[in-house]
Amino acid sequence: TILILDFGSQYSHLIARRIREFGVYCEMLPCTQKIKGLQFEPRGVILSGSPYSVYDKDAPRVDPEIFNLGIPILGICYGLQEIAWNHGGSVAPCNNREYGHALMKVDKHQGHPFVDRLFDGIEDSIQVWMSHGDQLDKAPEGFKVIGHTLTAPFSAIAHEEKHLFGIQFHPEVTHTPLGKEILKNFVINICECKTNWTMKSFIDNEIARIQQIIGPNGQVVGAVSGGVDSTVAARLMKEAIGDRFHAILVDNGLMRLNECETVKKNLGDHLGINLKVVDASEIFLDRLKGVTDPEKKRKIIGNTFIEVFESEALKIDQETKETGHCRIEYLLQGTLYPDVIESVSFKGPSATIKTHHNVGGLLEDMKLKLIEPLRELFKDEVRELGKTLKLDDELIWRHPFPGPGIAIRILGEVTPSQVAIVRAADHIYIDEIKKAGLYRKISQAYAALLPVKAVGVMGDKRTYEQVITLRAVETVDFMTADWYSFPYDVLKKISNRIINEVKGVNRVVYDISSKPPATIELE
Ligand code: XMP
Repeated sequence: TILILDFGSQYSHLIARRIREFGVYCEMLPCTQKIKGLQFEPRGVILSGSPYSVYDKDAPRVDPEIFNLGIPILGICYGLQEIAWNHGGSVAPCNNREYGHALMKVDKHQGHPFVDRLFDGIEDSIQVWMSHGDQLDKAPEGFKVIGHTLTAPFSAIAHEEKHLFGIQFHPEVTHTPLGKEILKNFVINICECKTNWTMKSFIDNEIARIQQIIGPNGQVVGAVSGGVDSTVAARLMKEAIGDRFHAILVDNGLMRLNECETVKKNLGDHLGINLKVVDASEIFLDRLKGVTDPEKKRKIIGNTFIEVFESEALKIDQETKETGHCRIEYLLQGTLYPDVIESVSFKGPSATIKTHHNVGGLLEDMKLKLIEPLRELFKDEVRELGKTLKLDDELIWRHPFPGPGIAIRILGEVTPSQVAIVRAADHIYIDEIKKAGLYRKISQAYAALLPVKAVGVMGDKRTYEQVITLRAVETVDFMTADWYSFPYDVLKKISNRIINEVKGVNRVVYDISSKPPATIELE
């Protein structure tokens, strides 16, 4: 295992991502982690970058015990400065902040085999990506300079006996083309980590871990939505504890066309998951009557969801009393690694963390504990896991769908007739996107309904009907997004079909706003 200590750099999670790609397991913890409290024995440590300067009064500090572990340590950017700071080096603001591409000369040292290992296989100079306002102006004693640029004489340093390495540039970003090789040199050649982290081993370990936590009679409840995260998590629970995992699908009346039937077929029939579908659409739609404020809509849906889910979970608890199983003690959640990283950051949960986890309130009321089998994985790893668990490609590559569903895609009041219009239009839209072979190129697409009417003409008659807006975005992390550049003929077909087939609509528009400043959803 490699331990990554996070000092809050925007690139920290990429370090973890790269190392996993080598098949090496790593864990990322806040930089303030005490070495004494570690649950595992790392073979090496990486110190990340940071928005701080090491000489700031409130600068985050690593537990100095780390330098007594005797294992290799690699400091990246701030991490380099932190190593230097702890070994008597001197760090100062640069005259010119260095940001962007730079050419670094590699300095090799005859007779110092260890310091040279970091740049093994790399010729005299490499392209690197810099992003820093401070730099070393003196190397600490005993350290060799193993790389320099025109402006930064100590771009890379290393200590032969202490096995310490520091680099000013960022090897984890793709702008450092050989960055992967450098990280690989550190993790595999220097730390001698084994490359045995595979999806299969992850599944085996996770199933064993779940079985141990839940015990032979324990029960778990979890909400499923038809999306990839909750389905993969549910499938894993099914493997681990069989029918003692109870999946609940709350039909809030705000799901896509035929969604409930599809989930029933996929999870219940196909995957054999113990699934209960609760039709609560009337309650939801009733409570949404007359409500137009987006935040109010979200709150009503969130609270109603908790209420319905909790009452179903309690029912299951009662029903299974006779079977000799324990009470339901755990709630399954499909939390992914990016959420975990944000919430364990030493700065505390960051402002970007999403508040829309629908099941938040359940923990207090039912006194449930959380079980999160995907908390170590990135989205693409969840997809790979799904593939290994033999889920259908169609399910694995589904676009995300928000918890509040169609309600946040109907601007204004949510009524059954408005829901029906959005459902029908969205179905046609996605169908045509799939037919055009574009579904996987687009990260998320949906149709929404604007609360305005416009005049049109159909046959010889004047119409006065509503406007459908189409959204399609490309994004990596859903934090920023670009609107998708559709071929015009595809848009033409979609618009024709929606206007002809969906009653109540006489116009279709395409949303060409990027995020930021717009968001992906309309509300
Ligand atoms: P925004 O609109 O914030 O959306 O740019 C970013 C991503 O999050 C999804 N989203 C939600 N997902 N519950 C969810 O489960 C929600 O309340 C929610 N709101 C937005 C959105 O679909 C997009 O993928």
